Amino acid sequence: MFNETVLKEIDGIKARYPDRKSALLPSLYIAQREFGWLSDEAMVSVSKALNVPEAMVRGTASFYSMYKHKPVGRHVIQLCTNVSCMILGAEKLVDFLGSRYGVQPNGTSEDGRFSLVIMECIGACGTAPAMLVNTDFHENLSEKSLEDILEQYK
Ligand code: FES
Repeated sequence: MFNETVLKEIDGIKARYPDRKSALLPSLYIAQREFGWLSDEAMVSVSKALNVPEAMVRGTASFYSMYKHKPVGRHVIQLCTNVSCMILGAEKLVDFLGSRYGVQPNGTSEDGRFSLVIMECIGACGTAPAMLVNTDFHENLSEKSLEDILEQYK
């Protein structure tokens, strides 16, 4: 269950909208921040905080790829491997992430540091290859720049 501080944060979000259902997406984001992923407990907490049916919470959460439905590492790498990024070396970066950090697509490194999600296109085709680490955007990636960037995420 959410603590009082988080419930107040969600109440603040609810107050912005005429319909409490409109607060569902940001509340799910808060739940993911608090629980690390959208466990059953997290989704029940959102349902109770917003007073909306659990089915609505689960249906909404399952639609968006930004919500995690299993435990993830401390940092989530979302690497694009679609056409522009693939042409400019994204698949080699996937291999590099596996050999250097021990993280495979849709997996988490043994040390729990990184999870890797393969993305279709994150809208940065002109500066490919590109990725997000958590909510931080990075572009023009190479093995060297990828390693330099990931050193910031312990
Ligand atoms: S193909 Fe990778 S950002 Fe568009």
